[in-house]
Amino acid sequence: MIKYFRLIVFLLSLIPLIIILMKIFFDNLGPEPIKEITNHTGNWTLLFLIFTLSMSPLKKITNINIWISFRRMLGLFAFFYASLHMLTYTGLDYRFDLTAISKDIITKKYIFAGFTAWFLLIPLALTSSKKMMILLKHNWKKLHRLIYLISILGVIHFIWLVKKDLTEPLIYLIIILVLLILRIRFNKNALLLFDNKRS
Ligand code: HEM
Repeated sequence: MIKYFRLIVFLLSLIPLIIILMKIFFDNLGPEPIKEITNHTGNWTLLFLIFTLSMSPLKKITNINIWISFRRMLGLFAFFYASLHMLTYTGLDYRFDLTAISKDIITKKYIFAGFTAWFLLIPLALTSSKKMMILLKHNWKKLHRLIYLISILGVIHFIWLVKKDLTEPLIYLIIILVLLILRIRFNKNALLLFDNKRS
């Protein structure tokens, strides 16, 4: 049964890719095609980071374990869309001109924040398998807590790049902070339960 749910989540996760490919195919990207692709993939990266962060609270709230089995796939999709986003900027916008890209990373703080977030996603993607989880033991959990920092860096990147209307990035920030608070609360409760059991 879980296998089918996983397949559904996988197919649903491909929809943002299909949408942008259709727009490219039907030449429907609007007056600024590169900007359209960058914004589409950037927004979906943040959304997939939020979906990934939501799985643990959903498991705790609903008492259903199935949510956790989607977490790894959603995290990998976040990395996938972040890489497409980064490649749109480095490849389509800058034709992989490393000098210009490095200059941007140093001089534009929003590019620096975005690049750091993407870079920090690499070790998480590389260690996402069950094998690595067993190999790294308790360090795996510590490493994967980086996802909160990555999400916040992603929002800071968004806040720094928008010039006027901060509504959208602030909505993302509130959602991420609520998920972070939920995590801290659940961990506190788990610790209390553990202490009560011992005493
Ligand atoms: C986890 C990493 C990242 C996240 C979550 C993220 C998220 C976003 C979001 C939400 C937007 C704005 C979309 C909109 O206006 O609707 C955006 C725009 C942008 N991002 Fe990222 N981003 C990330 C990494 C990067 C990286 C690594 C680069 C390049 C090195 C980059 C370059 C850009 C650029 C140039 C824009 C602005 C496009 C424009 O309006 O002209 N981002 N990103």
